[in-house]
Amino acid sequence: MPVAPAVNETRQWTRLMAMAEIGGFTDAAGHKGVNRPCLSAEDRRARRLLISWASELGLSVSVDPLANLFLRLEGTDPSAAPVLTGSHMDTQPNGGRFDGIWGVIAGLEAVQAILESGERPKRPIEVVAWTNEEGGRFAPGCMGSMAWSGFKPADTWDAVTDKDGITWADALREHLSAEADLPRRPLGGKPFAYLEAHIEQGPRLEAEGKDIGIVTGIQGSRWFTVEVSGRTDHAGTTPLSLRKDAVQDALRAISALNTLMHDPTDVLRFTVGSIKVWPDTSNSVAERVRFTIDFRHPDNAVLQARGDAIPGVIQAALTACTASVTERFHALPSEFDPMVPAVVEHWASALGLRAMRMPSGAFHDAQFVVPVCPTGMLFVPCRAGVSHHPSEYAEPAALAAGARVLAEALADLANR
Ligand code: GLV
Ligand code: MN
Ligand code: MN
Repeated sequence: MPVAPAVNETRQWTRLMAMAEIGGFTDAAGHKGVNRPCLSAEDRRARRLLISWASELGLSVSVDPLANLFLRLEGTDPSAAPVLTGSHMDTQPNGGRFDGIWGVIAGLEAVQAILESGERPKRPIEVVAWTNEEGGRFAPGCMGSMAWSGFKPADTWDAVTDKDGITWADALREHLSAEADLPRRPLGGKPFAYLEAHIEQGPRLEAEGKDIGIVTGIQGSRWFTVEVSGRTDHAGTTPLSLRKDAVQDALRAISALNTLMHDPTDVLRFTVGSIKVWPDTSNSVAERVRFTIDFRHPDNAVLQARGDAIPGVIQAALTACTASVTERFHALPSEFDPMVPAVVEHWASALGLRAMRMPSGAFHDAQFVVPVCPTGMLFVPCRAGVSHHPSEYAEPAALAAGARVLAEALADLANR
């Protein structure tokens, strides 16, 4: 039975827009963005809404110790390893309406289409909403999938704090107690396969006139936090030669890092996205600066060599201050097993869609599922490739096309 015709573009869009209201805001340019931090009251409201839709479909709900949320459609063989799909529901602080949440809503849409097609697959299908993919409130991202896969112990991040000083452990405890009515499941599992749908977050599909990206792998990422420590002095009286100015040394360090990260091929990604200054006044020399580094590359050798050079380059650039460099995230480049991308490619073609193979520049929870089971992702185009911004946009028809491929691919995998 084909399931793609049962995918309902309007239903999927309506659900996405209802989700976008939770944490939604309109920016100065009139773009509708979303700020839905993980483990927040908004996150919990969004999860309850998702659960209400899943319950109407008769899916069973469960939550693991990292608050990863699972919605399960039983298969005709309940003992068979499930096919897993999904993404995340948290957003960047100034985020869009599609990053992450579409993969969850598309998973639900695919399951609903499979149900409406009238044929129950052999394997269960589970839709997962991973906890804290973005790392916007608690760094790093992908905590839920890293713990689920055993890549990191579940208590790794207990002491990590958000900007208000709330620890991850406390936020998780509060969240789990607010969901005490939901059935629990242990961390981990051994799915038959995992397939995650996501907007591309880059410009290639749109530029090349393609409907579907068949993702072949994900580049590696490393995150560092750098603390430059100097001394506060009076801005009017202290000669420059006597200062330990943390802003000036942080600028020297960032400038030296730009040289280290120079890449004429423009493949390497290097971002300093957050800089905090203390005491943060005009007429005091800064005593402390904290900045972040997000460094990515598809080639593990480059990721290791340049990443490992970061602390030395920073130390060598300082003139008066000291600095500490802490690595907070280290995800190796990953290649997907060919099986799931081949299934996506088959169904994109069978549905008459224009598809291309491509790597992912963004990291995703899928990266951490790779060692556990055959994994894949499918991308749909987003306008001008913009993401992590309120102007992020994907056409309802493009999202419906992605959900059709997802539905067929999941049904196919669930009958293997
Ligand atoms: C995920 O949000 C990323 O930054 O790649
Ligand atoms: Mn995402
Ligand atoms: Mn994101």
